[in-house]
Amino acid sequence: MSQKLNIAPEVFAYMEHVTGTDGVAVRVNLSKEKIEKINQICNSFNNDAGELINVLHETQHAFGYLPAEVQDVIAHNLHLSVAQVYAVVTFYSFFSMIPKGEHPISICTGTACYVRGAEKVLEEFKKELQLKVGETSADGKFSINCLRCVGACGLAPVVLVGEKVYGRVSPDGVKAIIGEYKK
Ligand code: FES
Repeated sequence: MSQKLNIAPEVFAYMEHVTGTDGVAVRVNLSKEKIEKINQICNSFNNDAGELINVLHETQHAFGYLPAEVQDVIAHNLHLSVAQVYAVVTFYSFFSMIPKGEHPISICTGTACYVRGAEKVLEEFKKELQLKVGETSADGKFSINCLRCVGACGLAPVVLVGEKVYGRVSPDGVKAIIGEYKK
């Protein structure tokens, strides 16, 4: 077993017992619970490589993001190379390898929101938080992402902060929204 993996002692102790869905040891730096959760998701798709995107979606939904260690387990279970999984994760913008902020900000850039100025709202969030799309602030509080139509076109442009929906957001209103979460 390689020591180069930078494994926490408790995880290291557990690793010898960690197995993928095929019973073969997987060498990763994850808790038992997380590996079991990934195995369960892969199993629910019959460990079918053709279901990779669905497996990644479910896993990201469960963990919030897809770090390399998680991709390792998925690759192992679906009998794919780590490079194949990584290629898909990095190709699609809706997958992220970076943990979201405590207050994830999602700007809808679907057609209705776009037409009503979502781009300018997005630019204002980027400027105020000094972040690019897909980035998380150094203090871990905020992250910015774009979404396609969230089904609230009547309220366009729409912004979500976590689960909370903000409608008819203008660039002038961005500071106040951020301010709510800085308290
Ligand atoms: S396009 Fe933004 S909610 Fe529909």
